[in-house]
Amino acid sequence: MNRLEVEFLGITFPNPVVTASGTFNFGREYAHLYPLSRLGAITTKGVSPRPLAGAPTPRITETPMGMLNAIGLENKGVDAYVAGELPWLKEQGARVIVNVFGDTPADFALVAGKVSPYADLIEVNLSCPNVHGGNLPFAHDPEAAAAVIRRVKDATDRPVLAKLSPNGPILPVAEALEAAGVDGFSLINTLLGMRMDLERKRPVLGNRQGGLSGPAIKPVAVRLVYELYRHTDRPILGMGGVSSAEDALEFALAGARLVAVGTATFADPYAPLRVARELEEYLESRNERWEDWIGAGHTPA
Ligand SMILES: Cc1cc2nc3c(=O)[nH]c(=O)nc-3n(C[C@H](O)[C@H](O)[C@H](O)COP(=O)(O)O)c2cc1C
Repeated sequence: MNRLEVEFLGITFPNPVVTASGTFNFGREYAHLYPLSRLGAITTKGVSPRPLAGAPTPRITETPMGMLNAIGLENKGVDAYVAGELPWLKEQGARVIVNVFGDTPADFALVAGKVSPYADLIEVNLSCPNVHGGNLPFAHDPEAAAAVIRRVKDATDRPVLAKLSPNGPILPVAEALEAAGVDGFSLINTLLGMRMDLERKRPVLGNRQGGLSGPAIKPVAVRLVYELYRHTDRPILGMGGVSSAEDALEFALAGARLVAVGTATFADPYAPLRVARELEEYLESRNERWEDWIGAGHTPA
């Protein structure tokens, strides 16, 4: 019996542990350590229509139980990845979730259309600013976010996940996205934060503020997955500070069908694989399956 196998939007995943966008690049740096097909899936770094240089340095700083990053979504643009990393990744036999973003709904759709042949799922990063409708991120503007999802749905035949931000209310956005036809949700993206440099008397990060990730954000993430699960029947990919089987199981109880490991991979490149192995051992010792845990935290004792 495969205790970890899980269905997600019509796709069978051998285990529920995937990599988080921006923390595993396109997997090439890890392929000499283990076959990428052993992971539940690889979520790629964010891909935009045109190359982006990213934010000024420094881009990363440590925090208690986490880290702040302001990479600024640096990437080579969709055409470079369609010509190189994406076909390579598919050849590895891995399931692939391509993370896409842009400045406008048309941008998102353009990228989603181009990456579709290499994607099992499309993950739409709504946390970038809505350039034409002001500077509010799409993630906090239900109508703008819904417009993105409508365009992306038209541009791809792959299931579409909306990646939600914890920096504003999520339920009104989720409701608008469901009406727009979103297939599932992934959450959470990073929490906005800042550190100050006492010597320079300036913010540490070149971009001043950054996104907090790692164990520090796990309770926030579990709470938001739990809240969303009560309001939706669409499947959830949960993330935020996962670095052990116990962390992953907390997300499952809250309602996540899949979990992503992000920041933990920077300290240990084997982290996603280790979490899957530990999960297998944990469930084996109790004669249970991952599927038994999904949403089980909602049923009264
Ligand atoms: C260095 C870094 C880069 C990231 N880049 C992206 C990105 O390009 N697109 C995206 O949707 N999320 C990005 N994220 C957010 C992660 O995918 C994830 O949602 C978040 O870090 C919480 O998970 P964790 O605590 O396990 O890292 C990035 C996170 C980090 C730490």
